Amino acid sequence: MHIQILGSAAGGGFPQWNCNCRNCRGLREGTLNARARTQSSIALSDNGVDWILCNASPDIRAQLEAFPVLQPARKSRDTAIGAIILLDSQIDHTTGLLSLREGCPHEVWCTEMVHQDLTTGFPLFNMLEHWNGGLRWNPIGLEGSFVIPACPGLRFTPIPLRSAAPPYSPHRHDPHPGDNLGLLVEDLNGGGTLFYAPGLGQVSDALRQTMARADCLLVDGTLWRDDEMRVCEVGDKLGSEMGHLPQSGEGGMLELLDGLAAPRKVLIHINNTNPILDEDSAERAQLAAHGVEVAFDGMSITL
Ligand code: MLT
Ligand code: MN
Ligand code: ZN
Repeated sequence: MHIQILGSAAGGGFPQWNCNCRNCRGLREGTLNARARTQSSIALSDNGVDWILCNASPDIRAQLEAFPVLQPARKSRDTAIGAIILLDSQIDHTTGLLSLREGCPHEVWCTEMVHQDLTTGFPLFNMLEHWNGGLRWNPIGLEGSFVIPACPGLRFTPIPLRSAAPPYSPHRHDPHPGDNLGLLVEDLNGGGTLFYAPGLGQVSDALRQTMARADCLLVDGTLWRDDEMRVCEVGDKLGSEMGHLPQSGEGGMLELLDGLAAPRKVLIHINNTNPILDEDSAERAQLAAHGVEVAFDGMSITL
């Protein structure tokens, strides 16, 4: 299985256009040892030729430019993206569909809950009907597994997660199963297993058992601490309100990952305030000591 990290930052990217936190300012001024990052998305493939996009970032255009494998030239207009899976209906995971309109129709896989948001509060499905057949909805149920014709060598198992629906969704404060998914992706041709969850707010024993099956954990790296936005004086939302488990502290992501044996543990969807973006930070060293990597744009993982 080929995993390509197209975008490794949380909503807003890094640096965020209107942010003057220590990280964003430091990166802009060249005083911080860190890489810029675009907003959260990955691509998966069973053969390196045909790909499935997981989440469609507002930065998709730059992400495609940076990874030309997704833009083959077998005919006058071409793409290697055979399908798109949406793990939630967040702005940073869906807005890229607007930028892919020239290539409609697209096969889009998402839950009933995500489809509801994207046909009401943020009606991408309705709008894009006017572009050559728009988005073809392939429903993801909350049980069982599915295979997508574009990459028949990969089996996807949706894992309903407690994270958060977007601020615009009627489910923001009324969570429903299917608002947020993790994905267990198995290579049916003898490769490894990936667990991907860019938004993960709460851990259950069942989830721990699912994660224990993966060779690579690619999981929520949004915040180092729950009150990070407050500490950085850029907002008052807590990670727990936004559905993101912080890395540090009791019951945090680092503790969860410590209890799992996967050979690769990688954080993705990293908020621009997170001190782990600073490659010289104590927090980054702490991750390294625990064998935890920080995803970056352009990172490739083969399982
Ligand atoms: C999130 O991951 O919590 C959202 O993408 C935040 C946002 O929409 O700004
Ligand atoms: Mn997000
Ligand atoms: Zn910032």
